[in-house]
Amino acid sequence: MPLVSNKVTTIERHIIEQQERSNGATGDFSALLRDLTLAFKIINREVGQAGLVDALGATGNVNIQGEIVQKLDAFANTVIYRAMDHGGHLCGMASEEDEGILEIPPHYKRGKYVLLFDPLDGSSNIDVNVSIGTIFSILRRVTPGDGPGTLQDFLQPGFKQVAAGYTIYGPSTMLVYTAGRGVYGFTYDPSVGEFILSHDEIRIPEHGTIYSVNEGNYHKWDERVQRYIDWAKSDDPAHNKKAYSLRYIGSMVADIHRTLLYGGVFLYPADIKSYKGKLRLLYEANPMSFVVEQAGGRARDGGQRVLEIIPEQLHQRTPLIVGSPKNVEEVERFLTL
Ligand code: AHG
Ligand code: MN
Ligand code: MN
Repeated sequence: MPLVSNKVTTIERHIIEQQERSNGATGDFSALLRDLTLAFKIINREVGQAGLVDALGATGNVNIQGEIVQKLDAFANTVIYRAMDHGGHLCGMASEEDEGILEIPPHYKRGKYVLLFDPLDGSSNIDVNVSIGTIFSILRRVTPGDGPGTLQDFLQPGFKQVAAGYTIYGPSTMLVYTAGRGVYGFTYDPSVGEFILSHDEIRIPEHGTIYSVNEGNYHKWDERVQRYIDWAKSDDPAHNKKAYSLRYIGSMVADIHRTLLYGGVFLYPADIKSYKGKLRLLYEANPMSFVVEQAGGRARDGGQRVLEIIPEQLHQRTPLIVGSPKNVEEVERFLTL
């Protein structure tokens, strides 16, 4: 019987193959992504033991690494910084957990990229063993020279992202990323310590029958959003539409991951309490929007494309409507009524 090639592709191999296809790539960027995957593996190990933290930390809260047991989002934050500060690819980082820019220590080489990240997304789900994630966004520096990255390097619109993606720590751990040429998903095999390509060229369904939103905020929304939600959960025989199902995990990574694979729409609209929404533009909305758009989906803030918002602050928020193109358009129709 002839051998059928059914390639096993690690993320490292995949990144190299992608790099070979893009003219002028130096390998710098591939190495950066490779370094990031190490951080994800370490975070994954820790997330997998989250329920044991008290047991392991019982003797004075010192874990097996001999460090004080930290909250998982602080831990993830530190791991990413430490995995990325000395690779020579970055001139700065910014994290949800830190107010200002995280500088590269002066004794390490600086590179031409900046990294923005949400080390742990869905923190409220950590203690109840529900899926959480890490989100990342990579931009090329725009300031000349090789000095420390400045705010200008971070405050770029999302369409400028060189790569973005997320890791979801769920029943299995998956890394999903785009470098602007499609979306690829890798499942972590802990027995060999590798992310293996499992979802090649992900395409989001054109339309889905799930809506995902924190409906507890219903009475704080603008009435156009309320009207959309009322419609989403109703039968509409004139348009041959049945009531959609509601799914809401409360970890954006998990909610958008499901939306990417099953279709539908995820919303975090503005409300009277948070008039700009809740989610952060630079390290939550932009990277997730880049992934979804690259898979054929749509991401809007209610008025414009999320990826075209010109950022003014590192931690600024934005409303977000993201998912299957037809579902997002349905929401937009209600918003313009
Ligand atoms: P984080 O855990 O990084 O602070 O992000 C939480 C975000 C996001 O993951 C999720 O979609 C949203 O908060 C949930 O908010 P509500 O509890 O208001 O629904
Ligand atoms: Mn988050
Ligand atoms: Mn977070």
